Amino acid sequence: MKFNSFRLFIALVIVSFLVTNCESKQSLDNGDNANLAIDQKVDSIINLMTLQEKLGQLNLPSSGDITTGQAKSSNIAKNIEQGKVGGLFNIKGVEKIREVQRIAVENSRLKIPLLFGMDVIHGYETTFPIPLGLAASWDTEMIKKTAQMAAKEASADGINWTYSPMVDISRDPRWGRISEGSGEDVYLGSAIAKAMVEGYQGTDLTHPETILACVKHFALYGAAEAGRDYNTVDMSRIRMFNEYLPPYKAAVDAGVASVMASFNEIDGVPATGNRWLLTELLRDQWGFNGFVVSDYTGINEMIAHGMGDLQAVSALALHAGTDMDMVGEGFLTTLEKSLNEGKISIDEINLAVKRILKAKYQLGLFEDPYKYCNLQRAENDVFTYENRVFSRQVGAESMVLLKNENNLLPLKKQGTIALIGPLSNTPVNMAGTWSVATNQGQSISFLDGLKTVVGNNANILHAQGSNVDYDSQYQAHVTMFGKEIARTKSDKELLAEAIEVAKKADVIIAAIGETAELSGESSSVTNLQIPQTQKDLLKELLKTGKPVVLTLFTGRPLAITFENENVPAILNVWFPGSMAGLSISDVLFGDVNPSGKLPATFPMNVGQVPIFYNHKNTGRPISNKEGKFEKFRSNYLDVRNEPLYPFGYGLSYTTFNYSKVKLSSNEMPNNGSITVSVDVTNTGNFDGKEVVQLYIRDVVGSVTRPVKELKGFKKVLIKKGETTTVTFNLTYEDLKFYDYNLDFVAEPGDFQVFVGTDSSTENMAEFKL
Ligand code: BGC
Repeated sequence: MKFNSFRLFIALVIVSFLVTNCESKQSLDNGDNANLAIDQKVDSIINLMTLQEKLGQLNLPSSGDITTGQAKSSNIAKNIEQGKVGGLFNIKGVEKIREVQRIAVENSRLKIPLLFGMDVIHGYETTFPIPLGLAASWDTEMIKKTAQMAAKEASADGINWTYSPMVDISRDPRWGRISEGSGEDVYLGSAIAKAMVEGYQGTDLTHPETILACVKHFALYGAAEAGRDYNTVDMSRIRMFNEYLPPYKAAVDAGVASVMASFNEIDGVPATGNRWLLTELLRDQWGFNGFVVSDYTGINEMIAHGMGDLQAVSALALHAGTDMDMVGEGFLTTLEKSLNEGKISIDEINLAVKRILKAKYQLGLFEDPYKYCNLQRAENDVFTYENRVFSRQVGAESMVLLKNENNLLPLKKQGTIALIGPLSNTPVNMAGTWSVATNQGQSISFLDGLKTVVGNNANILHAQGSNVDYDSQYQAHVTMFGKEIARTKSDKELLAEAIEVAKKADVIIAAIGETAELSGESSSVTNLQIPQTQKDLLKELLKTGKPVVLTLFTGRPLAITFENENVPAILNVWFPGSMAGLSISDVLFGDVNPSGKLPATFPMNVGQVPIFYNHKNTGRPISNKEGKFEKFRSNYLDVRNEPLYPFGYGLSYTTFNYSKVKLSSNEMPNNGSITVSVDVTNTGNFDGKEVVQLYIRDVVGSVTRPVKELKGFKKVLIKKGETTTVTFNLTYEDLKFYDYNLDFVAEPGDFQVFVGTDSSTENMAEFKL
């Protein structure tokens, strides 16, 4: 007994020496030396740890029952004191976090500080548009700044680790989580992945305003069969490498500190237990050296996948390369047994512990565990005026003008304007899905924003118009988590009120579409149309004969074929974030000229799904430009192949004219490049931004190649009447792809290069490699 207390005393002396004397002020950029120093420090701590303490570092519980002032009596406190917790997540509030951190560094034997994680997905308290909306801005600098701002707010409030960016490519709008990513394209998705990692992590993780990023969900989660969440994924390696994996790799190349394994299986083995994925590909081939966390109970879920009992799946996960167990406690409760039975080795455990401790060092937590717990910063840096001004701008930049017959938009601030629809006065729905930290009620509703922007210049009338859906059960499912929209009246009553209001107006703005919880996790659908009651409301509004503007709220591409045919103006607003009502009104009245472009194809109907622009040609493509049905060709009897709106599509209040594509040469040398340019003229009456898009087609390959692939884009502001020359440097690297042997190669031959306003452009020139 005496001997044990003496050992403990010595251990504590050594650790406190290490903790107080470590030199983690060094920035990570100091490279090898810094890494070596961290390695040594981490190893010396690991030498002091008991097995249970090691397993504790791999354990990531959710914050559960912790309330301010009561952290000590929470269920989790005991585990923290016993060294059984490596980090906590989704706990909000700097005071609470400080209290919990204090338990770890004062009451646990080794005083190892905790990580504090959160789903800071599109902003912290200041919320930006949902990620799919952010992607529609095609403005990577701006997106980076949103991540920077989110990191600054989150770190001010105690958080040091975000579960973002989510970079899952998805071509299936039935899948609700398409809203959380950047859409269907690997090139755009990779650029955004890089921007977000750089935004969150900055160049120095020890800086108090930066936090660890976590790229997720590795991998292929967006290709769930039938768009049903958590469903099986099955795809060829060649498709994975060319069409799905690049954004994860871009995040790794940008230095992302952690990776979250996905729920789905890959080649028959769930990602969380897939050693090929988490070790051979991620670490050995891509050189990732951070840590891997499972998704929420991802380890335990391998039992239902059919991979064995909790002990078996926990061992499988550790062996595969999962370092941290989110919520499930399989590591904490079974790895000791597996170790004793020789099913895993102590080296495997040590490696995982090392990766987690390294992250804590990188953040500077050993030097100052309260580094992210500065109460003053929490007061000064969160939801600031400056941040809200930026959110208002970003919201407007994300919007996509889908239709604008006879230039109905922009509206004038005059006369009587009726705002009608279930999304018109619901602040809690404005931030969209996965906005954990935001104070929902603080978001600006459409109605309030409209009134502010219009001021005394016009008369605003308002009516709710309809419920979210005829089916109250369905409505309850899509308005959860404090995002309720009350069903105080019947649809009939609401419609009658709306028609009365509509009759008095000069113009009607319909605020309809999805609620925030109609997309996001576990929100898959088989019907991509606007909910029927809202569609019926829209039809009645159209019958009044008044001009109708549809402001479409959505977290996914919707099949709005009827609306496209019948409503004169459609503005896709996604979920714009904290300043929603102001952002939307800025665009509606032309204070901001819309410039967003679709990051995912909008289908004609759900039967076309999956539909995406960079498909293959097949051996039997249809041969007529109008898309008319041709027997024994690859097409449908009942609908044409073309989507409703293609990838990259979006209108402006002005118009742009493109010159023919000019090339610096019609031959590209090996390892060389050519310049591709176009003159873009603003031919309309407004200054405006245009996203100029460059696509290539590799005409002949050793494997079949897509009909088009995005390889460049530039967002340029062009004043009315002016012409800008937009130039791209197209390189040998841009022509590379993974071939049959998964070698990354560029093959000599003919290439086409397209530059235009969206992916359907036919503005093309040719060159040879
Ligand atoms: C989601 C993740 C998220 C995690 C933690 C899971 O259900 O799939 O995206 O980061 O929960 O909240």
